[in-house]
Amino acid sequence: MPLQNLILRPLACSMLLLIFSTSVTLAEEKRKLDPEKDKIYEHVIKPILSSNCTTCHGSSKAKGKIRLHNPEEIKKSESVVAGDIDESVMIERIMLPEDDEEVMPPEGKKRLSEEQKKMLSWWIAEGANFDKKISEANVPDDIGAIIAAMDYAPPREIKKAFNLPEPPQPANDAAVTAIGKAGILVMQLAQDTKYLSANVINVAKSFNDAQVKLLVPVKDHLTWLDLSRSGISDQAAADLGQLSKLTKLHLENTVISDKTLQEIGKLENLEYLNLYATKVTDVGLENLKNLKKLKKLYVWQTGVTQAGVDKLKGAIPGLYVNTGWQVPKKEDKPEEPKN
Ligand code: HEC
Repeated sequence: MPLQNLILRPLACSMLLLIFSTSVTLAEEKRKLDPEKDKIYEHVIKPILSSNCTTCHGSSKAKGKIRLHNPEEIKKSESVVAGDIDESVMIERIMLPEDDEEVMPPEGKKRLSEEQKKMLSWWIAEGANFDKKISEANVPDDIGAIIAAMDYAPPREIKKAFNLPEPPQPANDAAVTAIGKAGILVMQLAQDTKYLSANVINVAKSFNDAQVKLLVPVKDHLTWLDLSRSGISDQAAADLGQLSKLTKLHLENTVISDKTLQEIGKLENLEYLNLYATKVTDVGLENLKNLKKLKKLYVWQTGVTQAGVDKLKGAIPGLYVNTGWQVPKKEDKPEEPKN
């Protein structure tokens, strides 16, 4: 196996971990609820729905044609009848026996705890209000005990991953389906966002320029894209240049060259660009000087020189460029990754 694969594989893995640890699973500070300040919906109910329901009933999916990720959608869903738990389909569904076909969350998914079921029922019985503080409701002893034992963790700060406004509409379903059918893994970037990430890890070898066209219809939603090790070439440049919401782009180990960088230079939201082991040179790098948000650039094993790097750094203050020139020493070659 070529040396470069030995090094890049583990690198790619640790990079993935890094990405996920900084944006999706940000360490959450748990705290106790404060009934005088905290709200029933915001601090008790929303967290239950977010961690158990909104992957299927949220901004990117509407299973059963309902979404439950914000007050408007909950009202629209008609699954909650204020003050009447017997008429509320939400309660009916969560109370079903575990082996019932209609139980929510569906079979195979994590069950709601008894406490969570009680809190949802209490909230609805109390009028399914979206603004009241806990102390403003009627809090029976058993509910009070549950609240006292509950932790509240602030929602994940997704916006820190990329400073883009949330798209008003979810991505077009048919377009997302077409991408998935081509074997490209396309996912919601995180809970509570309509942004998407896509990678071609499963089909890298067969992935080609023509398939990049499939991504253009979701250009307003696609913000992370990994085309590393794929069969793309400069022929895909014009399509890539349209993906204006990209904040992260992996092109390492492809045959792209300076011609593609002319188009990449238009992706003004780009914060991370990986060009390891591609054919780019200092000439292509010139095109990146207007990417003022760019924070990390990887150009190891390319035609880029230190002079080219310095010039770009002069144009983009704070830019980190990994040239990797110090890394590949034969004697400290990393071990082959274990499967
Ligand atoms: C793994 C995906 C998934 C999760 C998680 C999930 N649901 Fe569902 N839900 C579905 C599907 C699929 C349907 C449509 C089929 C059906 O009605 O059983 C549905 C239907 C429903 C309906 C009926 C909608 C209607 O009007 O017909 C309600 C209410 C509901 N879910 C509530 C919830 C709640 C509350 C949670 C969290 C506690 C939840 N679901 C979690 C997949 C999910």
